[in-house]
Amino acid sequence: MNGGKGTLEGKVIVITGGGTGLGRSMAYRLAEEGADIVLAARRVPPLEETAAGVRQRGGKALVVPTDVTDTAQVNRLIEKTLSEMGKIDVLINNAGIVRGERPKAMWDITDEDWRTGIDVNLSGAFYGCRAVSKYFADRKSGNLILVASGEGFRGQRNSFMYNTAKAGVVNLTRVLALTLAEYNVRVNCIVPGFVDTYEYQPEDYQKVMAERRAARKLFVPVGNPGQPDDIGYVALFLCSDASDYISGGCFISDGGGLAGGFATTGYAPNVSLKEGMA
Ligand SMILES: NC(=O)c1ccc[n+]([C@@H]2O[C@H](COP(=O)([O-])OP(=O)(O)OC[C@H]3O[C@@H](n4cnc5c(N)ncnc54)[C@H](OP(=O)(O)O)[C@@H]3O)[C@@H](O)[C@H]2O)c1
Repeated sequence: MNGGKGTLEGKVIVITGGGTGLGRSMAYRLAEEGADIVLAARRVPPLEETAAGVRQRGGKALVVPTDVTDTAQVNRLIEKTLSEMGKIDVLINNAGIVRGERPKAMWDITDEDWRTGIDVNLSGAFYGCRAVSKYFADRKSGNLILVASGEGFRGQRNSFMYNTAKAGVVNLTRVLALTLAEYNVRVNCIVPGFVDTYEYQPEDYQKVMAERRAARKLFVPVGNPGQPDDIGYVALFLCSDASDYISGGCFISDGGGLAGGFATTGYAPNVSLKEGMA
């Protein structure tokens, strides 16, 4: 890919949720291919750790603590990136509450639960895209990447906010792609399946997931969960000019998980509300 359409040399890429999991993995992959990276999320220590990893890989790194549900903070992320890095080539809206939504009976879900789930997983992506849209439109060039989930293409018992928000992310991608095409801004969506990012989760969650890992494999036709760098490579393709004719697309990386619907290998565990942790 060196020097060709696949290189990221000189590109400035902003990643929300960049301190852990897929965000960190994308940051490392993109930095290895020549990009400078801006990292945004709420907790500073994981962001700083990722920034150190980016610098080790030869990229510049900027940390901007940001809550994506707060428009003022998101606008500040874009302003600070422009003032310190000089430009933005790609914004990756990756922040999400992937495993924080503890299942509850529907009648116990509060307005606050609903708003939090939708705000982080859907509104945050819109705020990010809106914040950078005028800059991209004026510049007549831009690249937006959103991160949905296989859950955005199917239902799941008791997963109200996450599945609804991720379906919204899929269609937000399409609306943005059509709206911004005239400004030479392209917009695409990454759709991960089960990707092993458990090491970044709280300890109690890790324990449950270690017990469930064997059962979860049964969902995946290729027989194993994805690794974070699998998503890093999808991001690499979408950030590079190799994908410059692609807009409005969903890029599924799930070991075949969506090919057959929810119970991909004919097995679906019956997880009770009590023991369920998403
Ligand atoms: N791993 C999978 O199997 C999988 C599958 C499908 C889709 N996804 C999607 O991939 C993305 C990354 O997930 P992951 O697996 O890497 O999980 P993760 O390690 O928990 O990453 C989520 C990141 O989002 C950030 N975040 C959460 N709330 C935020 C807020 N209000 N403002 C700013 N940042 C916020 C978190 O940082 P702070 O807490 O420090 O803010 C965290 O770094 C998510 O959108 C998720 O839905 C993951």
